[in-house]
Amino acid sequence: MMMLLGITSICCIAIAVVAFLAISFILLLQIFIYMTTGVCKSQKKMNGKTVIITGCTSGIGKETAFDLANRGARLIMACRNVAAAKNLKDQFVKETGNNNIIVKKLDLSSLKSVREFAEQINREENRLDVLIHNAGTAETFKKKTTDDGLEMTMATNQYGPFLLTHLLIDLMKQSAPSRIVVVASELYRLASLNLDNLNPTTTLPAYLYYVSKYANIVFTMELARRLKGTGVTANCLHPGLIDSGIWRNVPAPLSWGLQIIVKGFFKTPKQGAQTTIHLAVSDELDNVTGKYYLDCREYGLSQSIKNHTNAKKFWELSENIVQLKSTDPKI
Ligand SMILES: NC(=O)c1ccc[n+]([C@@H]2O[C@H](COP(=O)([O-])OP(=O)(O)OC[C@H]3O[C@@H](n4cnc5c(N)ncnc54)[C@H](OP(=O)(O)O)[C@@H]3O)[C@@H](O)[C@H]2O)c1
Repeated sequence: MMMLLGITSICCIAIAVVAFLAISFILLLQIFIYMTTGVCKSQKKMNGKTVIITGCTSGIGKETAFDLANRGARLIMACRNVAAAKNLKDQFVKETGNNNIIVKKLDLSSLKSVREFAEQINREENRLDVLIHNAGTAETFKKKTTDDGLEMTMATNQYGPFLLTHLLIDLMKQSAPSRIVVVASELYRLASLNLDNLNPTTTLPAYLYYVSKYANIVFTMELARRLKGTGVTANCLHPGLIDSGIWRNVPAPLSWGLQIIVKGFFKTPKQGAQTTIHLAVSDELDNVTGKYYLDCREYGLSQSIKNHTNAKKFWELSENIVQLKSTDPKI
């Protein structure tokens, strides 16, 4: 009996020690994340500037949109879920006192929706100072194809933004100096771009998320090269690993373990929005183009992603994929 009590006590102490160490580790890591995370220090007001941000109903986009509304920008919330965006808009107006916020329907997975959105913007807006390509989707196993026959992740994360950039570029050139900001990801390092199969409808979507982020960076670098001298800059970023909606399509039981990691170790959406905000507003980026940022600082890219010949080829092939017309602006 005494021996059993002794073993039980030792087990209890061991569990308490392990729990203490685990909690301490998480707390220390949280402090580390808090200390090292980039913060946009710019106090710049955005009154008189028009900003479009895609996919701002949740996560990083929502926090970025709030910040820009708070700085006085005319904010165009380009969202797929219009009802959710309208509710959020009312909240932003109430909290920031900025009445210059509008919601427009945009489904980046549909070439038709991208064209309709751009057509409205070109008709109704007289300037566009900042275009933020924030919207993104990630699937794990479910393969999906859009109405245009494109693979869903690539269509939403890369081809929709590619077409949108073309259709809005004249307005941005007229408004120069203006900025294009692309939310990419460090996860690009796990992928590469197969130029012989740019519509990979049979590939695992989880991998295609990395590919789409690789494509975002190649696109931004080539865009910056093509826009040299126009007054329109293009930069991209990794926001960090964020506790946002992007993980929602991970199925159980994978999601159980993931949720512990996401809640315990990842940045908040507000922290995750800082680098996007920095690229959108900071004066120090006035003449910066073709760069990649992390934690509000310029960050190095892998050698392979900087291949200019591949980027040029990717661009030309993408023009066919999004069915760019001879009457559309060329970049
Ligand atoms: N979270 C991370 O750790 C992380 C890391 C690196 C990069 N990123 C990037 O950060 C960006 C923002 O993602 P998040 O983490 O904030 O995720 P999120 O909370 O899921 O937000 C994604 C946003 O994109 C919108 N969206 C999805 N599909 C769309 C479509 N077809 N058309 C228009 N909008 C669409 C969503 O709108 P609905 O409400 O309609 O779904 C939502 O507002 C993404 O580009 C993502 O790849 C995230």
